[in-house]
Amino acid sequence: MTPVSINDYLNKENPWTARLLGLTPFQKNRDIQQVENEYNLDKYAKLLEFDFKSPAEYKAKEFEQAGLHPIKGKVFISKGDEIFQTTVENARNTYYDLIKSIIKKYSSEHICELGGAYGFNFEHLGANAYGGDYSKNAVAIGKKLGMDVCEFNYYTENDYDFIKPDSTIFTSHSIEQIPDATVIINHLEKQKSKINYVVHFEPTIVAERTTLLGLLRNKYLELNDYNRNLITVLKGRNDIEILELKTDIFGLVPLNTTNLIVWKFK
Ligand SMILES: C[S@@+](CC[C@H](N)C(=O)[O-])C[C@H]1O[C@@H](n2cnc3c(N)ncnc32)[C@H](O)[C@@H]1O
Repeated sequence: MTPVSINDYLNKENPWTARLLGLTPFQKNRDIQQVENEYNLDKYAKLLEFDFKSPAEYKAKEFEQAGLHPIKGKVFISKGDEIFQTTVENARNTYYDLIKSIIKKYSSEHICELGGAYGFNFEHLGANAYGGDYSKNAVAIGKKLGMDVCEFNYYTENDYDFIKPDSTIFTSHSIEQIPDATVIINHLEKQKSKINYVVHFEPTIVAERTTLLGLLRNKYLELNDYNRNLITVLKGRNDIEILELKTDIFGLVPLNTTNLIVWKFK
């Protein structure tokens, strides 16, 4: 893992430099149509054409389709405000190690990943992992692989009924796709008797960011119309206890960093 400067990461080669500076227009509207186009009809529809036998093979294809060697490809990652260059393999292993150590701490009989696509995180969540995702094509891949996955939409109250008693809820970069998290927390509240802990590995706007990289991260989230308020929604409720909150613990993409948020209903 090689430490690099912000200039090695954000320069003319990276299209995000011009977007963040306002030189190239960019503004997404992250409604369900955007998710349908970007994930269901593009990314997961393309993957569904392959007939692999393991989630690892589908994951490797995802990297290949993004122009990266799934093991040796070089990527930028971040820890806090420090940026490094490393291999895809090392970046992913670091992320999975983080997931495993946190889930071990907040384990339940079942671990439910919401927005978990075809279930490629399940092996790091434990034997009783199950989940749901909006994308029909991702769910079709998961079912082909024998995963316990179903169709699930964050915006639909009844979809949360599939949550099993004695569950830890886990999310990784899927609430990122929901600009306003209020609806999610309201729907989870209806299931609270079944939920022991909620563990988020999620990007969100963090009002306390003051550094150049921190402010660029907030701008990046705004331009993508990613989540703006997961932390403020949780902090604003008196029926929720936040157990852990660590911002920018890791960045598989240094502009789109993972914040660790663990909470439970009181
Ligand atoms: C960036 S991917 C993250 C996938 C996986 N959790 C991970 O750790 O990489 C975002 C996922 O969120 C799902 N998603 C987006 N909007 C959703 C919604 N309204 N309800 C459920 N899942 C949604 C997408 O289909 C996609 O699988």
